[in-house]
Amino acid sequence: MDLIKKAIEVRKNAYAPYSNFLVGAAIKAKNGSVFSGCNVENAAYPEGTCAEAGAIAAMIASGQREIIEVVVAADSQTPVTPCGGCRQKLAEFSNSNVIVIFSNLNGEVGRMTVEQLLPGAFEKEQMRS
Ligand code: THU
Repeated sequence: MDLIKKAIEVRKNAYAPYSNFLVGAAIKAKNGSVFSGCNVENAAYPEGTCAEAGAIAAMIASGQREIIEVVVAADSQTPVTPCGGCRQKLAEFSNSNVIVIFSNLNGEVGRMTVEQLLPGAFEKEQMRS
């Protein structure tokens, strides 16, 4: 599947000299455009950013606001699910039934919906008084 290939491809560009854990993400927006991102670490460790965050930033910069599919790829024994912060970031721009696919490099894949990954996500509607 193209989105998986894209996530595996962009993963090669990850800058992860501290963890040596390269991650790639590819997201498809509602208009069919695909955006990708990789993790970008920093000597000041907390300043590093996740692959999903990079892909979301690229989508927003292009003018798209709605995610319809996500793939996260890493070289792990079992496919890696998005971190907690990225689950919240994905929930901001996805319906709860959007599928998130996680893939390792051996062709093993897992899939969960955004709702399964982050039940009860904090959403803008909750800020209404
Ligand atoms: N990482 C991601 O890019 N996405 C995730 O969802 C999990 C973790 C990155 C952050 C850090 O650069 C490395 O993986 C190890 O945590």
